[in-house]
Order: sequence, then C-alpha cells, then structure tokens
Amino acid sequence: MIRNRACVCILCAAAAALIAFLMFTPTPATAADPPVSFINDIAPILKENCLACHEPKKKSGKYDLSTYERVMIGGTNGEMVIPGKPDESELYTLMIATEGRRMPPENKGEPVSREKAALVRRWIAEGAKIDAGISPKADLVKELRLRWKPPVPPTVYKFPTVINALAFTPDGQQLVVGGQYELTIWSVADGKLRKRLRTRAERAYGLAFLPSGALAVAGGQPGQEGNVCIYDLAAKPMRVENGVAILDGVSDPKVLLAQLLDSNDSVLCLTLSPDGKKLAAGGCDRAVRVWDVSGGATHAKLEQTIENHADWVLGVRISPDGKYLLTAARDKTAKVWELTTKESLMTFPSHQNIVYDVAVSSDSKTGFSVGADKIIRSWAPGGNGAQIKTGGGHGDEVFKIALSHDGTTLATGSADKTVRLWDSGKLTATKTLTGLTDSVFALAFSPDGKRIAGGSYSGEVRIWNVADGKEQIAFNASPGFTAPASTTPNP
Ligand code: HEC
Repeated sequence: MIRNRACVCILCAAAAALIAFLMFTPTPATAADPPVSFINDIAPILKENCLACHEPKKKSGKYDLSTYERVMIGGTNGEMVIPGKPDESELYTLMIATEGRRMPPENKGEPVSREKAALVRRWIAEGAKIDAGISPKADLVKELRLRWKPPVPPTVYKFPTVINALAFTPDGQQLVVGGQYELTIWSVADGKLRKRLRTRAERAYGLAFLPSGALAVAGGQPGQEGNVCIYDLAAKPMRVENGVAILDGVSDPKVLLAQLLDSNDSVLCLTLSPDGKKLAAGGCDRAVRVWDVSGGATHAKLEQTIENHADWVLGVRISPDGKYLLTAARDKTAKVWELTTKESLMTFPSHQNIVYDVAVSSDSKTGFSVGADKIIRSWAPGGNGAQIKTGGGHGDEVFKIALSHDGTTLATGSADKTVRLWDSGKLTATKTLTGLTDSVFALAFSPDGKRIAGGSYSGEVRIWNVADGKEQIAFNASPGFTAPASTTPNP
C-alpha cells in the first residue's frame, strides 16, 4: 500500500513535470542554446506586436515599450518584468493569456505566436538582461533599424519594378531609375544597363542631382523606414558583372557620402532649389525638412522642419527666388510656406481631392498643382488661394508635374498612361505622349530640356523629343526582366 502510493506519487510528479514542460516550454532550451538576446530576439517581437499601442506618444495602460529601460520600469500596476520569474511577469503572462487581459487586446490583433512567447519567457527566466553595448535608453525601433541589412537586389527581376522616380545624369547621357533596393543607371542612347547602386531604401521616391554631381535620393520602406541619402555615382564599384558596375550604397562610404535623414516611414518627395543651395524632402510623417546643402553633401545642415499638412506630403518644390516652399499633400490641399519668415502663407483648396505634385514657374509668380481630380490648376504662391487657370484632358488621376528648365513647358504624368506637355503660360495642352502601358509615376526632363522621360508602374521607361513628341527609346528598367507587358508588377 505504502509502496503503491509512493509509486503513484512518483507517477504524478512525472506527469506534472511533463505537463508543465509541454505547457510552458514549447521550444525547450538546451544547454547549447545561446542566451536569448534582447535586441535581436525580444525587441522585434515588441515592435511587431506591441509598439503600435505602447510607444511614447500612445502609452496604452501608461506602458511604454520603446526602450529597454521603459520595458523594465513597467506601467501603472508596477513592474511588468521580474527577472528570473517569467510566470509572474505580465510582459509574458499577458502574451499567453487566453481570456480577458490578453495583449494585444483580443479584438485588436493576433496573439503573439507560441514560439515567440516562449522566447520572451526564456529571456525573462535568463534574467531579462540587455545586450552588451546598447544603452537602456536607446530607442528600440532605431536600434533595430541600425542592425537591419537590406536584401541584395535580385540579379534578374522576376517582376517589373514600380518606377517612382527618374533623373537624367547632369550630362544627359544616362537615366537613373528607382529599382528594388537599388538605383539602376541606363544609357539613354541604347537603353542598356550600365550601373546598379544598392540602397537601404526599398524604393526611391525622389531624385535630385546636386551641383557637385552627387545624387540626393529620398526613399524608404513603407511603414518601416524613410531616408534621404547622398550618393556618388562615379565612385569605384565593388565589381563589374557583364559590363554592369555594382556600387555599394549601403555600406561603402565612398558611395554613400551622407545620410541626411533616418525616419520611421517613407520619404515620398524631394527637390533641389533652382540655385542648388537648398534641398527639401517630405513624406509620410507629414513633415517637410529643408537642408542647406551649399557647403556640399557632407556639410548639409538641417534648417527647418515644417509641419504644415494634416496628411502625407506627396510633392515639394522651392521657388527660384528662394522665397516659397510649395507642397502637395494627401490632405487634399497644396500649401505655400514662406522660407524666409518661416510662416504658412496660403492654402490652395480647389482640388478637393488628393494633391499629388506641385511645380512653380521660373519667375516664382505661378504655382501649379495636379491631383486625383485629373486637372492641372494654377495659382499665385503669394496670393490668397484663388485659382488662376485650369487645364483638363487627362482621363485619370495626375501623379506628377515637372517644368522644363527654360520654364516654357510643363509635363504631367497620369494614371491614364500618358504624358502630356503644356504651354506653361497658357496652361493649354500641346502634346500627348503615348506608348506607356501603365500609370505614369515618374517624369524627368533632360538637362537641355530637349527630351522628356516617363516611367511607369510596370517598369517601363520611354523617352520622347519635346519638340516633335517623337519617341526616342523605350525599355523596361527592371534588370534582366523579360516577360510580356501584361505581367503584374511587384506589389
Ligand atoms: C491595439 C493596442 C494594443 C496592443 C497592440 C498591445 N496593447 Fe497592451 N494595452 C493596450 C491598452 C489599451 C492597455 C490598457 C488597458 C488594459 O490594461 O487593458 C494595455 C495595457 C497593457 C499592459 C498593462 C499595463 C498596466 O500598467 O497595467 C501591459 C503589460 C501591456 N499592455 C503589454 C502589452 C504587450 C506586451 C503587448 C504586445 C505583445 C501589447 N501590450 C500590445 C493596448 C494594446
């Protein structure tokens, strides 16, 4: 009897241990496993599952998870992490809670996966330590960004790239195109790929050559990162593959001359003032930043950060007289900021729909804007917001507007798959350039103003003569991509 009971007890204990083992350690740690790393293992879980509601601006339950220090200090109910005691630590217990106070709240997000929760458990069990070399006050999202390495762009594109930005090189011989985690540089004469420059940004949204010949690029990864970087396209390549020079714009300081901005979401537009002294960029954080670049790329100075819009800034230009900053935004307005007095000067409300881009006449007296209403509208940057002229004819949303260097011709790119040329004074359409088979997301005049390039949602580039509208060359700017034009582009 006694013996029997002892046996049952041993069995019970074994069963209990087994159950505990199965319940709490879905991925049991072995002695060989290195300790869980806070920054590499835990911070990504917090970013993915928690930070949307627990960051400095949105401290749900007064709990801020944006730094190690904050995670350890806890919220209103005290400490959330008790080192060595995961089952008493709410950071962990709320992740695996099956009812009531689960985090993320049940109707607000998927539960943290069992594997990830187990990592959090093990991290707390191991003492909830921070990795060596990281400040407890370091912003975790920034710290993760520093550690993130962009993927190497595909040698051969399976899907055409979406072209959001184009620029002719200052000599007019080559065209720079935004690819996937890279810029691709093509010969205008034969449409052949010449160079590929790797970037952190998944997409380039704005390109501008500085007077020195260096290229400023605005870009990012949606919802993750935004950056403005300056590159030297003439720097020594890592190697040459089949006649194509490969440049490392991610880690080679001879290629990546400077990074002016590192933010949490895409930078969507970029412009250089006509005198070459100021660079301005705007994007998803609603802000427009203006740098003085007169001292060169590596001495750029942030001069102003302007928050004048209620939604993403999609287009930006500086007037030739240096007075006005014109912006287009998803908040359905175009606006003018006076750079000298640092004041908001006017709002142009007439589009009543998303305004995608702006331009300004060479005498700085007329602003132009285009948008989802399919119409070009002109107005006075120093005026009261009244409309001067309109130009119609596009059959769909108008995404881009550019002014030729001599100021006589405007070009617009639309979802109707055409590029239109306009007399900038009369705002009358002079030519419709066809041939692209998808929405026109990018436009660029050649430096001599004689040619205009359009880039589409399906990677197509077309270059036309401005004078007679004749097509000069057409190619798909997706390296190695060969497929029918009907293929769906990369989302
Ligand atoms: C969709 C928004 C949202 C997400 C995502 C979210 N939380 Fe919360 N959290 C809240 C809200 C709201 C509260 C306060 C109300 C409450 O306690 O239920 C809260 C409270 C908490 C508290 C309690 C703080 C205190 O002082 O009582 C902890 C701990 C917590 N969350 C941890 C987490 C963790 C860990 C994650 C990620 C796994 C997470 N939350 C994800 C919205 C969120």
